[in-house]
Amino acid sequence: MPSLSVFGAQWGDEGKGKIIDLLSSDVDCVVRYQGGANAGHTVIAGGEKYVLHLIPSGILHPGRLNLIGNGLSVDPIALLEEIEGLRARGVKVDGTNLRLSGAAHVIFEHHRKMDGLSEVWLGDGRIGTTGRGIGPCYADKASRTGLRISDLLDPERCRKRLKAALAEKNAVMAKVHNADVFDFEDQLQRYVALGDKLRDFVGDVGHEVREAYKAGKKVLFEGAQGFLLDIDHGTYPYVTSSNTGTNGIPAGVGFPVTGIDRSVGIAKAYCTRVGEGPFPTEDHGKEGQMIRDAGHEYGATTGRPRRCGWFDALAMRYSMELNGAAGFVMTNLDVLTGFPELRCAVAYNIDGQRTETYPAGQDLAGIEPVYESMPGWTEDITAVRKYEDLPQNARNYVEWVQKLVGVKVLMLSVGPDRKQVIPLGL
Ligand code: IMP
Repeated sequence: MPSLSVFGAQWGDEGKGKIIDLLSSDVDCVVRYQGGANAGHTVIAGGEKYVLHLIPSGILHPGRLNLIGNGLSVDPIALLEEIEGLRARGVKVDGTNLRLSGAAHVIFEHHRKMDGLSEVWLGDGRIGTTGRGIGPCYADKASRTGLRISDLLDPERCRKRLKAALAEKNAVMAKVHNADVFDFEDQLQRYVALGDKLRDFVGDVGHEVREAYKAGKKVLFEGAQGFLLDIDHGTYPYVTSSNTGTNGIPAGVGFPVTGIDRSVGIAKAYCTRVGEGPFPTEDHGKEGQMIRDAGHEYGATTGRPRRCGWFDALAMRYSMELNGAAGFVMTNLDVLTGFPELRCAVAYNIDGQRTETYPAGQDLAGIEPVYESMPGWTEDITAVRKYEDLPQNARNYVEWVQKLVGVKVLMLSVGPDRKQVIPLGL
């Protein structure tokens, strides 16, 4: 397939970085289309661990073109740090293998600060954001007061637009939040200088992706976060501020929807979530802690412990359906080794009524999952590379979940390394 969308099908942290890195060896371009440095894509390559936040996971493969689309909120400080960090480890990053859309929005220091201040203001209703300024930046984009990367490259335009934007932000910070304000001239100089450092990377990314696709090149669209964090279809308001599924690609790159040839989700063999918000299959007990320990479930971006629980077949069906997914990659199957019994939500009880349809648009708080269970396995599966070599109970679990979700499992991941996969048709 010339173009493939790979997205997180749950609440993020499904292991997309590893799968995209793996698929990158067979594609020409890897494209990010939404989110920002709130993402943390972990890739283990050659025994070394890389955590990528903004740069597409194809960067570790020489000869691949990595593109950051207009749909991202880009923190230039974070991007430059990431570029320098990779270069320091011998990874080539320059304007020939990394391209940045001039239409991507800029995260300023005041966005990061407002992210924190708004959370305090929300109190018990806080979202539990990553604090990277994502929400305030996208809010400015929608309010048409944001600045784009191309604005940083034109000091006069930047001066005009930043002056108007910062005046209002400073007033809100001082008068509503009683916080320190930012000096306009200082911020202007700082961000124009940052823009200058990014100049060689900036271009019309949409055009570059369309041309590559027309020339028969293989394009991989790399989703960040997860579909249940989608601003429109996720567990609003406990979501991120972008469209996190295949739905985000056309707008976030400038690529026709009809050009997306295949869509594949990534899901863990269980569920995790960071931040606040409903999580019907969360396990607050011993088993949730066992999953956290075995899966090292701590955030790649913030280090926060992740909330852990069981696979949710309803939520997964919903994710697959809305994204037109051909199937999904099931990651972290090895983490479930040693559990006597494995649970999966097959329905929800909502006010005493059983439903097998994910209740989109409703508040999921107070929903009771209806579980069924299967016996687990004890054998170490991290060295298994062929499906037939998995313990019978592991195969039973995978096939049971696949049947409940209704689309195929296209690959299994049984450990963090690139090689620890069992291909099933991806
Ligand atoms: P924000 O994207 O920083 O505004 O955070 C909004 C919500 O999305 C919070 O619950 C975050 O924990 C969650 N979130 C954002 N990025 C990620 C991610 O990459 N993985 C998992 N959760 C994320």
